[in-house]
Amino acid sequence: MHHFQYKGNELFAEEVPVREIVAKVGSPVYVYSHATLERHYRAFDDAFAGVPHTICYSVKANSTMAVLKTFINLGGGVDIVSGGELYRALKAGADPQKVVYSGVGKKDDEIEYALNSNILMFNVESEQELDRINQIATRMGKKAGIAIRVNPDVDPQTHPYITTGLKNAKFGITIERAIEEYKRAKGMAGIEILGIDCHIGSQLTKVNPFVDSIIKLKKVIGILKEAGISLKYFDIGGGLGITYNNEEPPLPSDYGKEIISATKDLGMHLVFEPGRNIVGNAGVLVAKCLYTKQRDEKNFIMIDAGMNDLARPALYGSFHGVQPVVNDQDGLVMADIVGPICESGDFLVKDREVPMFRQGDLMAFMSAGAYGFAMSSTYNSRPRVAEVMVKGNSFEVVRERETVEDLIKGERVPSFL
Ligand code: LLP
Repeated sequence: MHHFQYKGNELFAEEVPVREIVAKVGSPVYVYSHATLERHYRAFDDAFAGVPHTICYSVKANSTMAVLKTFINLGGGVDIVSGGELYRALKAGADPQKVVYSGVGKKDDEIEYALNSNILMFNVESEQELDRINQIATRMGKKAGIAIRVNPDVDPQTHPYITTGLKNAKFGITIERAIEEYKRAKGMAGIEILGIDCHIGSQLTKVNPFVDSIIKLKKVIGILKEAGISLKYFDIGGGLGITYNNEEPPLPSDYGKEIISATKDLGMHLVFEPGRNIVGNAGVLVAKCLYTKQRDEKNFIMIDAGMNDLARPALYGSFHGVQPVVNDQDGLVMADIVGPICESGDFLVKDREVPMFRQGDLMAFMSAGAYGFAMSSTYNSRPRVAEVMVKGNSFEVVRERETVEDLIKGERVPSFL
């Protein structure tokens, strides 16, 4: 459930007509519902009410400060994958002791920044990274908290581009190797072993792959215990899916029950890194119809947002529902909804029956809160769009629309030209 509903024939974001937002802020614009963000965070949190746990919201899904602050206010931590994400999270007021740092390519300066910020732990993704963190921490006279990201070789049954827990993926360390690395880490002066981690993929619509990887990691935890290495944190990653079209992912409460029953005998502190599950259906991208054209074989609806604003359809063939902001069109038409970018892959909707949008009509692309703005670019020199957060009957711009001046910021024409 989210807070983008019709009242009469008008689409509302909470108590605000979406049309009014566009009248004030322009189009295209991302619109987030604060109530939905809060509700989704709480649903996830409540699912683990009985057990010690920390929700480290995965910043990459939507790194806008207003969104981060919403979860931080609710007691959430963050999962980061870069120095830039750490900077944002700290600026938004994140508690460093609730920060976990994943990613296969941590750079020296990022590791130093994270150590100086006293984050909770690094999710280590390779043998060499472990050595590097140890060297840097030792030099700085610090101890780096770590978990090893174990690649459990479990198929999450999702899109290949967002499958991360299979052996052929670049992520994590294999089970066999991980045990050796923990033993090595035990002797390292700059390392404090805190936990174990996995993240097997995104947009999972079943619980089994999560449970399968937990079972595999429990074996590792058992072996380590015998070797005198005890772990406090069990980071299960993110990945719980949402409904874009007709997917039926488990509710956080059902997911919670299964995870709790699979882990309760361990008595460990659980860490989660949800992204999409809490922000995905809390945001829409609103765009305007510029032109329409009919061809014998096809109709095209040209809009003012493109693959640079919402890349998911072009990149993964993803489905985003589309709804009119004012529901007054004359029936449906089979069409592609396309952007202004000079690429045939620039579509937001492909071969689908959609309302017969006319020039000037506004439409909302649903479920765009996760990996929407965060993956947007300025390709074709199109300034990135504005973002708005709605709360009840009010709304605020939480990111200004970029200008053409922003586009050339930092560029220099060399002296020899
Ligand atoms: N933790 C780690 C280490 C991750 O790599 C990810 C996502 C998450 C947590 C959060 O996963 P979530 O709960 O959102 O599924 N751009 C793609 C999704 C890429 C996911 C990358 N990693 C998309 O638009 O579908």
